[in-house]
Amino acid sequence: MTVPVPESHGDGADDDLAIRPAEQADLLAVVRIENESFSQPWPYDAFDRFLGEPGFLVALVHDQIAGYVVADVSASFGRQLGHIKDIAVHPDRRGMGVGSALLSRSIAILAAHGADSIKLEVRRTNDGAKRLYRQFGFEPIRHVPGYYGNDEDAIIMVRQLE
Ligand SMILES: CC(C)(COP(=O)(O)OP(=O)(O)OC[C@H]1O[C@@H](n2cnc3c(N)ncnc32)[C@H](O)[C@@H]1OP(=O)(O)O)[C@@H](O)C(=O)NCCC(=O)NCCS
Repeated sequence: MTVPVPESHGDGADDDLAIRPAEQADLLAVVRIENESFSQPWPYDAFDRFLGEPGFLVALVHDQIAGYVVADVSASFGRQLGHIKDIAVHPDRRGMGVGSALLSRSIAILAAHGADSIKLEVRRTNDGAKRLYRQFGFEPIRHVPGYYGNDEDAIIMVRQLE
């Protein structure tokens, strides 16, 4: 099933904010933000594989890529599990509501694709991201020691959609 994502403006973050599905031409900018955001960044090919996935969205501020989210839905034991796999905002654009707008839109898309719940992993020490996820109704359910290698633990957070 595919649900079109209408391009939209103004998620309350910025009048010049737009969110739309990611396109091939966006990937270099996405990878640049990824590299500036994570110590173990996804490579270009990882993003390339998600092109066409309804949950791969980019945020544009003044027509420039300001952030992105990668999410999908998969079936597991008769349930539809949403998964937010990656989200980041350009360092110069953080704290302006771009991450909230991306998260909000991706949750709506996962819900529209039948997700019963959404999970994500976050570094135990990433207090900013954990606060963002809590604001969107995600609750910590599990702690995974060494999830990111180099002794960095993950917290699994889940939001029910039913
Ligand atoms: C996490 C991230 C995507 C948030 O994007 P953003 O555009 O800065 O987020 P917003 O401006 O929408 O902020 C929303 C909320 O997130 C929380 N938050 C975000 N960054 C924060 C920080 N550095 N410290 C504390 N809270 C923070 C706050 O609760 C904030 O709400 P508030 O402004 O009402 O206090 C962004 O900081 C980022 O790209 N970080 C690096 C990559 C990363 O850690 N990704 C998450 C991996 S799990």
